Amino acid sequence: MSKSSFVCLAAVTVAAAYNIDARQVSGVSVGTSAGPQPTQTSFSFTLATTNPTAIPLASIVSNAATQATHTLATTYAPGSIPTVVSGAPPLPNAALLAPSNYPALDKVVPTDSPEVQQWIKDVANSGVTIPDFAPTVDSGACGSNAAAVADTTRCWWTCTGCVTATDITTCPNKLTWGFTYDDGPSPYTEDLLQFLDQNNLKTTFFAVGSRVISFPNILQTEYMGGHQIGVHTWSHPPLTTLTNDQIIGELGWSKKVIKDVLGVTPLHFRPPFGDIDNRVRAIAQAMGLTPVIWTRISPQATFDTDDFDLHSGLTTASHVLQNWNYISGNASIIDTGFILLEHDLFQQSVDIATGYILPDALLHQPPFKIVPVIECQNKPLSDAYLELNDNSSNPLPSGSVPSSSANAAGSSTGSTGSGGSGSSKGSAAVATAGLPGLGAVFALALAILAGTTLLMS
Ligand SMILES: *[C@@H]1O[C@H](CO)[C@@H](O)[C@H](O)[C@H]1NC(C)=O
Ligand SMILES: *[C@@H]1O[C@H](CO)[C@@H](O)[C@H](O)[C@H]1NC(C)=O
Ligand SMILES: [Zn+2]
Repeated sequence: MSKSSFVCLAAVTVAAAYNIDARQVSGVSVGTSAGPQPTQTSFSFTLATTNPTAIPLASIVSNAATQATHTLATTYAPGSIPTVVSGAPPLPNAALLAPSNYPALDKVVPTDSPEVQQWIKDVANSGVTIPDFAPTVDSGACGSNAAAVADTTRCWWTCTGCVTATDITTCPNKLTWGFTYDDGPSPYTEDLLQFLDQNNLKTTFFAVGSRVISFPNILQTEYMGGHQIGVHTWSHPPLTTLTNDQIIGELGWSKKVIKDVLGVTPLHFRPPFGDIDNRVRAIAQAMGLTPVIWTRISPQATFDTDDFDLHSGLTTASHVLQNWNYISGNASIIDTGFILLEHDLFQQSVDIATGYILPDALLHQPPFKIVPVIECQNKPLSDAYLELNDNSSNPLPSGSVPSSSANAAGSSTGSTGSGGSGSSKGSAAVATAGLPGLGAVFALALAILAGTTLLMS
């Protein structure tokens, strides 16, 4: 999600001029209030088409339950062999995952577990030098961290737009869209998956590890359907605010839960809020994760739809569609492809994507080539995963993936409940290790309940 500042849009006049099926509709006024207004902000946008089943824009508002959630149309039996990526191992049994073997939902992970302690040693042994910067303060707000912003050796993307050679922020080929959704899995992901399936689109899902524990079957359906899966941390904190050990724990647990659910380990991650500096980059490199941010052509033109803020009412559907128009306009004229920020955590974000943004994008002229990030880098889907990566054509960054790390991340006691190698039991794991049946099922039910009520960040 974006942490860029927003303008409060209460009581403004919204002039939405949009073009549906070549029929110009203009001057539609939403939320007009009488009398003089201190701020007059109007939004305009043009769409080539909209989805006939789109939720009306006026209904895509804060906390509106615009439609019932849908259960997964397609699920995969344990042991299914992925057909979309060659050489992949059979699918683990998600029903056997014990949430008590993992850290808590949406909370920064503790660093005293044996797993995190092992990953800390692995990072220390990786040969990658971690810069000695103090964590940022105040959730990484730029204004509260003037010295860190000014320190160019930090290369802090959030506040300065600084990137390094390893950051993926665009796609090399013009008009190619490295397509991404963040913050799921969620109860609304299925609506997005349905639309993507109907339109033969594949995306990259940057999954929040603790939400994978709530909805493992959704992650499996994404992966089996040929979408790319990447890491979006365990609990979605701004990473520059964390200690080295916390960053290691956040990335390590996310890699582990995805490996436990899918059988493969992602090689890409998106920093929450795009909050990355050279300390976070070095730790990620040592853990075998390449950062994927989003396209930024100037401080004023960042490819962020701001769809995340619909849920809270901090923005409006019209504003998001105007953002989309600017993004697609700029995407049409820059010399490279592009990556933009969208989310599948909230119903409003999914509704605006499936009802408006994606139908418009599919008719864009000249056409966009819409593909997962790995494919926009002209690499096969298999190169998105450690175990399937073609190491001869796509060598991993030096220092990354020390052997014991691959081992720790690769053990999967969580999916079997059996204790396995003994190297990956969380501090809370002992309680259920002997009761993988009812205890695990009950804990999973609790996590699902918690997942549906606590999904926010
Ligand atoms: C590019 O983005 C900027 C700011 O978001 C906007 O003002 C401008 O109109 C956009 N350009 C095009 C061609 O859409
Ligand atoms: C590439 O290297 C990784 C890490 O050593 C290994 O797990 C993987 O199996 C290798 N890829 C292939 C296709 O052999
Ligand atoms: Zn996010």
